Amino acid sequence: MSAPARRKILVTNALPYANGPLHLGHMVGYIQADIWVRFQRMCGNEVTYVCADDAHGTPIMLAAEKAGVAPEAFIAGMQASHAADFKAFGVDFDHYHSTHSDENRRLSESIYTKLKASGYIASRFIEQAYDPVKEMFLPDRYIKGECPKCGTADQYGDNCESCGATYGPTDLKNPFSVVSGATPVLKESEHYFFELSKLQGEVETWLNDEKTVIHSSVKAKLREWTAGGLRDWDISRDAPYFGFEIPGAPGKYFYVWLDAPIGYFASLSALLGNDEARLAEFIGPDSTAELWHFIGKDIINFHGLFWPAMLKGAGHRQPTGLSVNGYLTVNGAKMSKSRGTFIKARTFLDAGLNPEYLRYYFAAKLSDGVDDLDLNLDDFVARVNSDIVGKYVNIASRCAGFIESKFDGKLSESFAEALEIIDGSKRYSYESGHSAYRKIESQSGKIRTAFERRNFSEALRLIANSADYANEYVTTAEPWRLAKEQRLTELQAVCTTTLNMFRLLSGYLKPVLPSLVAQAEIFLGGDILDWNSLDKPLLGRTIKPYSALATRIDPAHIKAMIAASTDSLTPAEAPKAKTAKPAKAAVHASPLTPPASPASASEATIEDFAKIDLRIARIENAESVEGADKLLRLTLDLGAMGKRQVFAGIKSAYPPEKLVGRLTVMVANLAPRKMRFGMSEGMVLAASGDEGGPFLLAPDDGAQPGMKVK
Ligand code: 2FM
Ligand code: ZN
Repeated sequence: MSAPARRKILVTNALPYANGPLHLGHMVGYIQADIWVRFQRMCGNEVTYVCADDAHGTPIMLAAEKAGVAPEAFIAGMQASHAADFKAFGVDFDHYHSTHSDENRRLSESIYTKLKASGYIASRFIEQAYDPVKEMFLPDRYIKGECPKCGTADQYGDNCESCGATYGPTDLKNPFSVVSGATPVLKESEHYFFELSKLQGEVETWLNDEKTVIHSSVKAKLREWTAGGLRDWDISRDAPYFGFEIPGAPGKYFYVWLDAPIGYFASLSALLGNDEARLAEFIGPDSTAELWHFIGKDIINFHGLFWPAMLKGAGHRQPTGLSVNGYLTVNGAKMSKSRGTFIKARTFLDAGLNPEYLRYYFAAKLSDGVDDLDLNLDDFVARVNSDIVGKYVNIASRCAGFIESKFDGKLSESFAEALEIIDGSKRYSYESGHSAYRKIESQSGKIRTAFERRNFSEALRLIANSADYANEYVTTAEPWRLAKEQRLTELQAVCTTTLNMFRLLSGYLKPVLPSLVAQAEIFLGGDILDWNSLDKPLLGRTIKPYSALATRIDPAHIKAMIAASTDSLTPAEAPKAKTAKPAKAAVHASPLTPPASPASASEATIEDFAKIDLRIARIENAESVEGADKLLRLTLDLGAMGKRQVFAGIKSAYPPEKLVGRLTVMVANLAPRKMRFGMSEGMVLAASGDEGGPFLLAPDDGAQPGMKVK
């Protein structure tokens, strides 16, 4: 029989936004894809696995501003943190890139230009909410106000979390900008649209192609949307925006979701050294490579409608498959800061927990469906301790010692014969080692199919059953009794049979537990386990001394993780906080997720607060800044701490001369920020709200420059 053709597969994971650390909700989709990639490689397929940070958009621009750093510096820090977390969890991308890269700019411009040349881009003027203080257009989620139906305050511009009414941001009563607190006004601006309706037929053809692998429930949802008719998609945003300027349209930027999926190709291009021909093998219209996107269920519209349309319209190939995962809950509920179940990937690691155990647990619960996945922490401990330590590793530890101490590490040349078992006065024959081994080997096909279909829970169920069977063989064969009775030939053969069962199970588990199985491979004498060599048992080989491969989870580590994730200052769940929603598995913040509003500031611990160095400052000098309508250049005296230059947007409320000599409060440890007019070395504090502002803070009599505010 000829060997099956080697598949060439490109796998991607949804790109995480560069605006916060990864948490366990994110990890589901990455772990899922990584397991599949490792499995495909074990089958001999050629897999390229890429990802990147999704670095553009308003939330990231504002988060960088809030942190007092340039967006480029902000996203660089995030990228490094994400890459480190992925590595620790064994998520082993061939390349981890950024959408804010030359490759992505080039590819985005190229795709846009081709879409435009083919007549798929239109422009028209639209009216949008505008923040007159911040001088920026406001995405819907940056506008809050009172519900037009029930009057509940502090509601977002799309629906009321109190009465459930849905509406548009212009329907809100007393609306305010989440960014500045100002009342938004309507302003007209030209926008660019991708005319999806013109490619509707192509999207449907792709969707209906039986070779396109998407779970039936997702296909049904996508078909529902296409049946309703695809509407034009607004792909431009006005300055200020952190992203790529649209060619030929100064001041207009690609909407983050336009260049995000192109980031998959950008990462690949960087990996291939920007070699056009090699890139075309993956993304050209005639590519025979498979293209798989692993995503969360919240972004199926982008990947199942817009992206295939973009690809088709620009003359590229379309995806082979979408693997869609659900949300993560912890202990049966949405992740919660007050309960300590909003767990960052780093917190899990810092608590001393083995990331491979999480890989195992997620795999044990993942199917190819889009159901939500619950991480029940008690079940997590019980399952890992039982399956990995109690079943799998136990098989090796029960027999390895005999091989080492009695046979100098050498395995027998053949499996055990049928054993003569004496049970009281009865004697009977127990199955041969060969037949026992075959029972586990015969599962290989089914396990392989389950992995291929991304039905990992089924694969692990079959593996756990096989591990039970192997343990049963050891229990019945009683190697310790054979040792005691000096039946050495049988002892060596029984242990050899058992360790070969362990070897098969190690191969099956390798995509899920790569580090643990790498240790098992060393123990087995450097055996490189892949699916095509699993059928060659180890006989007559000398193996290495055994040392414990895995230890049980100590519940104290779980407690430590929860304690480290618990926000003690959170009195109760804030129902409106974004984090209170079910944590999304692959992706969390929507592109429009705002930072916490002034009215519902997100929780901060006392440690968080202590990080901010607030000081009394005397305004030694204040002057207008040429070219900046709203700014004043302040020279602040901090007593023993010296002087600082700060640019403050308070000109509308304070003539400069009125400020000189005043005391105020400043943030003294904000990272200096390079502005067009010079460095800003801190921030003065001022209040503002619907009633006006800004109102500069002033201390009571007696405060001196440099005093700490706490
Ligand atoms: O929803 C999100 O978190 C996005 N950052 C996912 C982007 S996936 C791809 F299209 F880039
Ligand atoms: Zn309401």
